[in-house]
Amino acid sequence: MLALQRGDLVHRIKALHDQYGEVVRIAPDELSFVSGKAFSDIYGNKDFQKNPIWIRPQVNGFHSIHGANDTDHVRFRRLFSHAFSDKARRLQEPILQSYVDLLMNRLDEKVPASATSKAVIDVGQWYNFVTFDIMGDLCFGESFHCLEESHYHPWVTILFSSFKAAALFASCKYLPGMDRVLRLMLPKSVTQKRRDHFDMIKARVDRRLEQRGTDQKNIDFMAYILRFNDEKGMTIPEIEATFPFVIVAGSETTATALAGITNCLVNHPETLQKLVHEIRGSFTHPADMTFEAISKLPYLGAVIDEGLRICAPVALGSPRAVPVGGGTIDGHWLPGGVSLYSVPLGSLLCNLFFLRVSFLLRPSFPFLADATSPASESFASPDSDFSRH
Ligand code: HEM
Repeated sequence: MLALQRGDLVHRIKALHDQYGEVVRIAPDELSFVSGKAFSDIYGNKDFQKNPIWIRPQVNGFHSIHGANDTDHVRFRRLFSHAFSDKARRLQEPILQSYVDLLMNRLDEKVPASATSKAVIDVGQWYNFVTFDIMGDLCFGESFHCLEESHYHPWVTILFSSFKAAALFASCKYLPGMDRVLRLMLPKSVTQKRRDHFDMIKARVDRRLEQRGTDQKNIDFMAYILRFNDEKGMTIPEIEATFPFVIVAGSETTATALAGITNCLVNHPETLQKLVHEIRGSFTHPADMTFEAISKLPYLGAVIDEGLRICAPVALGSPRAVPVGGGTIDGHWLPGGVSLYSVPLGSLLCNLFFLRVSFLLRPSFPFLADATSPASESFASPDSDFSRH
């Protein structure tokens, strides 16, 4: 509970796994697993529902798509699927391209062209600027203008504080009975931040809903929601509860992944060089870098996949609960109801063996190892020769 409040739960859990192995008890009724088999057992089985400790309705009392129960989730997903179709993606591509161009122009301004001059850039911040602007535009046709103004929109600043507030709220649930009392003891500012954050985005959603007649550019997510919403769709409060979640889901995660990948690349110049070589050898002009064209670059694809593996933005995994009646995880039978556990992806991926076999961190390691290559044999076991390097 304290580690959750301090914000170092992932590191605490990793330390416990380092000491005790693949399964550890992290609370009286909560286990943490770090094996690949546990990952597929937990997330590949619909019976293991999201852990209720982390599911709270939004400020308006309604659940977002992430917190919705099974029946509502089907409704929400059906409606949202239109905004994620291939056709929608093709129409949305110019929006993304325009923000990437703007990001590159802004970085060009910040970094002098001369090869000898130096500039210090907080690239994590710039990735957040671009992803929040993109998500604002994609969700309801209105950018947050972070790139243009070179600083976070107030909503984004509040959002980062509200993450901490969410952890505090979740930590209170670890003492059943005390939950309400503890929540009352939380500083007023924590509750207020959560409310401010919701109110700001609700105002945007409502503004966009009022424009339903003009339908903006007709390609933002809201346009699809409005076009296909029917009696089996979503109510206005459900839409208002879901959009704040979708903005965060699409922006902060992507920015974190990009920052992690950039960190790997700048610290491993040989890998960076191979990537630069592939990209510059494939395009002569930025406009040629379409979704379709870049999806055909094998090294870039491998760098992104590998980057997501070793710099997982959702480091704690997504907490789940054992269904009533129990269930088996990686050969361990667990009773239902009270047993709660999660797979901390960050801990799994910090495992030294996983880092040692990463081509991103060791350019000599082949990134497309086939079944017969010595590299893939060494992948089979942490005790192999490779892991001792
Ligand atoms: C590197 C980028 C991303 C990562 C690491 C990531 C990770 C995740 C994770 C771990 C979950 C929770 C899954 C669960 O609890 O079962 C999730 C859910 C979700 N994400 Fe992402 N995500 C990313 C990008 C995006 C983007 C770009 C969008 C939208 C444009 C998005 C929209 C969503 C939505 C709507 C959900 C809720 C799905 C549901 O509950 O049915 N995500 N994401």
